[in-house]
Amino acid sequence: MDQSDLTNVSARSWQLSERARKLTSSAIREILKVTERPEVISFAGGLPAPVTFPAEQMRAASDRILRDAPAAALQYSATEGYMPLREWIAARYSQGNVQIRASQVLITTGSQQALDLLGKVLVCPQSPVLVETPTYLGALQSFSLYEPHYVQLSTDDAGLIPAALTPELTAGARLLYAQPNFQNPTGRRLPLERRRELAAFAQNAAFPVVEDDPYGALDYRGEPLPTLLSMAPEHIVHLGSFSKVLAPGLRVGYIIAPEELHFKLVQAKQATDLHTPSFTQRIVHEVVKDGFLDTHVPTIRALYREQCAAMLAALERYMPEGVTWNRPEGGMFVWAQLPAAIDTMKLLEDAVAQNVAFVPGAPFFANEAQRNTLRLSFVTVPPEKIDAGIARLAALIRARI
Ligand SMILES: Cc1ncc(COP(=O)(O)O)c(C=O)c1O
Repeated sequence: MDQSDLTNVSARSWQLSERARKLTSSAIREILKVTERPEVISFAGGLPAPVTFPAEQMRAASDRILRDAPAAALQYSATEGYMPLREWIAARYSQGNVQIRASQVLITTGSQQALDLLGKVLVCPQSPVLVETPTYLGALQSFSLYEPHYVQLSTDDAGLIPAALTPELTAGARLLYAQPNFQNPTGRRLPLERRRELAAFAQNAAFPVVEDDPYGALDYRGEPLPTLLSMAPEHIVHLGSFSKVLAPGLRVGYIIAPEELHFKLVQAKQATDLHTPSFTQRIVHEVVKDGFLDTHVPTIRALYREQCAAMLAALERYMPEGVTWNRPEGGMFVWAQLPAAIDTMKLLEDAVAQNVAFVPGAPFFANEAQRNTLRLSFVTVPPEKIDAGIARLAALIRARI
């Protein structure tokens, strides 16, 4: 909806809810609209690289489904999700002593919906919600509809600092939202020892620790660290997604939660969209059931690893002193910190005029923002353009130092 539509709503004097009145459009979204121009080198997208979408497998899977089970695939289905897919997910997470039950798995319309459902069933106005500093902008957008009081948790270059989770800070919280693997926006991965500490914290907490994990499989070295779920299966709510390993347009994600919470989430989802599309759930299951991801995901990792290396090399080559960035071992993002006086919101306007784009860091902070930060995505830009784009951006930054 553009601005003129909004004006029409008020001209009709229809009363919007308090909640709707508080919704704001993102200023960045407006600036970034121009990044769709082909001459713009955009590091702003959070989208996976389309060359990784297994279109041929999807086509073959949908042909088989429409041939063998057209009525079920095109009919309404259970809110909980397609049972064979729930069973496949439960089996994938069940290892050693950890047994995940299909009855804990709820298929969601992307993991974005999982965030909304968690907000709906856990958060009241002013209830504390604990988030990393910075955190995923889309999680803030989802939770904010339920009007929480955000508490920003301390982080460093390795991610969340569990030792800083004091009883005073966490009292009364409804949930703690964390991304241990290749966090959006920072690309950080939480080290093993901190995972143990956070899992131990979850075991004693009076609220769930939510582990959002869309990037865990995109581990460039193929050496995954254990999930929080595997360390404290009855105390963690785990969110997963097929968006980054198959395709985001399918809109298939999932929540693994203890049955008591699962039941409430199902009720909330019923009111939201009845169920995730039967057809796309079946396509996902048909594609993954015989081990396709085991060969497909390494090809995504190899591509992203190469593009990440190109970006790190370009940053090294062009960035002036005073600019720092992390070296991700997986995922889709690099996080950079500029000298304190540079506001990346303002920098973005000039960057877009020079046909290069990024996402300013400020919207990823729940409360006080570090305005000299930015997020760079390398996955949809070929290496030679990465080099040219970073050279342009570095020149703009250099001019401000
Ligand atoms: C951390 C995180 N969580 C959730 C999502 C939503 O993903 P989807 O709804 O496509 O599963 C994203 C998307 O980029 C993300 O980065």
